[in-house]
Formats: sequence, structure tokens, C-alpha cells
Amino acid sequence: MNKTIIITGGAGFIGSHVVRLFVNKYPDYNIINLDKLTYAGNLENLKDIDKKSNYEFVKADIVDQIAINKIFEKYKPDAVIHLAAESHVDRSISNPTEFIFTNIVGTINLLNAARTVWGSDTINKLFYHVSTDEVYGSLGKEGLFYETTAYDPKSPYSASKASSDHLVRAYNHTFNLPVVISNCSNNYGPNQFPEKLIPLAINNIKNMKPIPIYGKGENVRDWLYVVDHANAIDKIFHDGKIGETYNIGGNNEWQNIDLIHKLCEVMDKKLNRKQGTSESLITFVKDRAGHDLRYAIDSSKLKNELGWEPSLQFEQGIVLTVDWYLNNNKWLENVVSGDYKMYYEQMYTNRN
Ligand code: NAD
Ligand code: DAU
Repeated sequence: MNKTIIITGGAGFIGSHVVRLFVNKYPDYNIINLDKLTYAGNLENLKDIDKKSNYEFVKADIVDQIAINKIFEKYKPDAVIHLAAESHVDRSISNPTEFIFTNIVGTINLLNAARTVWGSDTINKLFYHVSTDEVYGSLGKEGLFYETTAYDPKSPYSASKASSDHLVRAYNHTFNLPVVISNCSNNYGPNQFPEKLIPLAINNIKNMKPIPIYGKGENVRDWLYVVDHANAIDKIFHDGKIGETYNIGGNNEWQNIDLIHKLCEVMDKKLNRKQGTSESLITFVKDRAGHDLRYAIDSSKLKNELGWEPSLQFEQGIVLTVDWYLNNNKWLENVVSGDYKMYYEQMYTNRN
């Protein structure tokens, strides 16, 4: 069936994997990648599919309601998959306001635009909001996050995402907007901006620089390979029930310090270094303010109702990830140096 789908944040880490999956898997869908190209957006991520006839890139800021309305009016999308966000917790601590604009105002602007363009004709329409497990707060040593767990966000980032989730549900309840939400755990894999733990550590190990571990490295995250997240989004997009929430997780908890030990072992092998070389780079630094201790997701609803499960073991995923960063040195160097940003700024300055 023919469909036009606006995917926001498609030039970012997870968004680029979702765009690639949909463009390749559904040739009958028109995929519009709507992205502002912030520091985290990089069209280089999509160079393997950007000439496909069912793909188009539109540079726009979701905070700009007028621009967003025009885009919705022009493309009349059947669906929106909303990933655009400020996504880094540390940045939300140093500059919270940007998170309020993009994550909250940006989301309501998209909801408004969808409402306007769909009116009362919402058959076969869908607003899919991609969210995070961080909205549930922080766990102690025991327990899991369920779809029914009360929201208790602790950082400006998670508070802004929680707020956007509430708005999406409120538009469903009040205006009957057809929505679905998923809350996912930590992703890792190719194309992740090297400010996040795994790509940052890979880059530092490669360059024999210190690996900064916050506090004692005791915090726990549940890691999921990004392509598995994209597959879960595909599943929920097509088979999920309107108004429902689905948790997505890797069933794969690691204390940060253990994860870094594992990564050091893999990197030493790949770089033909003596085992223990990378471990010597581990450096304990001041803890993140308000650092959530543990996240762990129960994704049995998704498994039981829609049949999704992660396809990769972490041991496989981390090797694939390390291989990708080592084989895509240019991508990493450009991102770290900011060259790609200058290039796209020049390229798009006169187009909008
Ligand atoms: P990312 O930071 O890599 O990418 C964000 C993308 O959004 C970039 O392409 C950026 O240019 C774009 N963007 C930012 N502000 C924008 C604006 N005002 N207008 C238009 N585009 C804008 O993020 P990510 O890690 O790929 O996360 C994507 C989504 O998934 C986010 O909503 C995030 O909350 C959620 N999520 C992420 C993870 C994770 O582990 N990374 C886990 C669960 C959920
Ligand atoms: O749980 C899902 C969330 O996962 C997403 O919603 C966020 O967008 C995504 O950024 C991620 O948030 P985290 O804060 O968990 O990811 P980050 O990679 O920043 O940190 C992972 C853990 O590693 C966390 O406990 C903090 C720690 N850390 C991080 C960095 C960058 C360090 O010890 N040292 C570091 O240098």
C-alpha cells in the first residue's frame, strides 16, 4: 500500500537506521526525512540510500510551527514517526532550555500539524512517538520498568521526553489523534555520535586517550543494538494498537565498568594490542549530576503481542559496532572535527 511517512530526526543515530530500513523494505512508501541537522544530524549516515526514488530530505526545525505546517500541507503524510530530539543527558544538564524547545514544543508542533492536516479523517493515519525508558526514573538493584510503571523522570532530558509522551497521550485522549508510543532502552551501534558512552570509549581507545567513567562505574544500562530497535519500530508501526505503549529493551544489563572492560578486550584484539593495553586508559571522573543508577526494561508485551525479540547477542553486537567504527574512520574523524557540519551548512544555506 502506498504511504507517505514523515520521519523526524532521520539524520541522527537511530533515525538514520529507521529511514534506511523503511526506504529499503517498503519501496511503495515515500519516506520524508525531516531534520534540522543539529550537531547530531549527519546526512552522511544515509549516503547509501539518499538517491533512492522513495526518499527525500527536508531540512526544517520542529520548533518552527509555521515551517512544519507548510511541510505537512505539502506532503500530506499518512503517518509520522517522530524521533527528532535533543538526546544527550549531559547536554541537558549544561543547557536544559534547548531540550524544552525541541523535545516539548517541537512535539506539540508536530501533533498540531498532524491534527490540522488529518482533520477528522484519521483512518489509516498514525502518529508514532519514539521515547525512552528514562521517563520511568531510576531503579534500585531489583525490578524492571513496565508500560504501567509511573513516570518519575530525573534529568532535564528525561523530564522533557516525559512531557512529550504526556502530550502525545493527551492528543489521543482529547482529540482522538491516532498515536502509538514506544519507550526504549540504551541503543548502541553504527553512526552513534561519539559523545555517548560506547562510541566515545571506542574513539578514545583508538587514540590511546583516557576513557572517562563517571563515579565508580556502577550504573547499569540495558543495551540494545540499534538495528533491533529499528526493527521493533517497524513492527509497532505496522501491528501496534492505537493508543498503546510498548517497552523495547535488550534484556541485556551491564554495569558501565563491566561494559568498558568487555569493550577494552574487544578493542585490544581488533587493534592487535597486548591484552590490558586499553584497560590502562580507564579513568574514574566526577559523577554526572543526579546520575540514574539503573534502567532495565520488561519488553514482554512487545514479545507476546507482536512477536518482537532482539536478534543479536551483545557479544555479537559489540564486535559489529567496533568493526564499524574502525572501518569508518573518516566518518568518525569528520564528526569529531565538525567538518561535516561546515559542509552541510554551506550546502543548505541558500536552499531554505
Ligand atoms: P540523535 O541525537 O543521534 O539524533 C537526533 C536527531 O534529531 C538529529 O538528526 C538532529 O539533527 C535532529 N533534531 C534535533 N533537534 C531538532 C529540531 N529542533 N528539529 C528537527 N530535527 C532536530 O538521537 P538518537 O540517539 O538517534 O535518538 C533518537 C530518538 O530516540 C530521540 O527521540 C531519543 O529520545 C530516543 N531514544 C534514544 C535512545 C538512545 O539510546 N540513543 C534510546 C531510547 C530512545
Ligand atoms: O536509556 C535510554 C537513553 O540512553 C536515551 O534516552 C538517551 O538518549 C541516550 O543518550 C542514553 O542515555 P544515557 O545517559 O544512559 O547514555 P550515555 O551514553 O550518555 O551514558 C551511558 C552510561 O555511561 C551512563 O550511566 C553514564 C555513563 N557515562 C557516559 C559517558 C558519556 C560515563 O561513565 N562516561 C561517559 O563519558
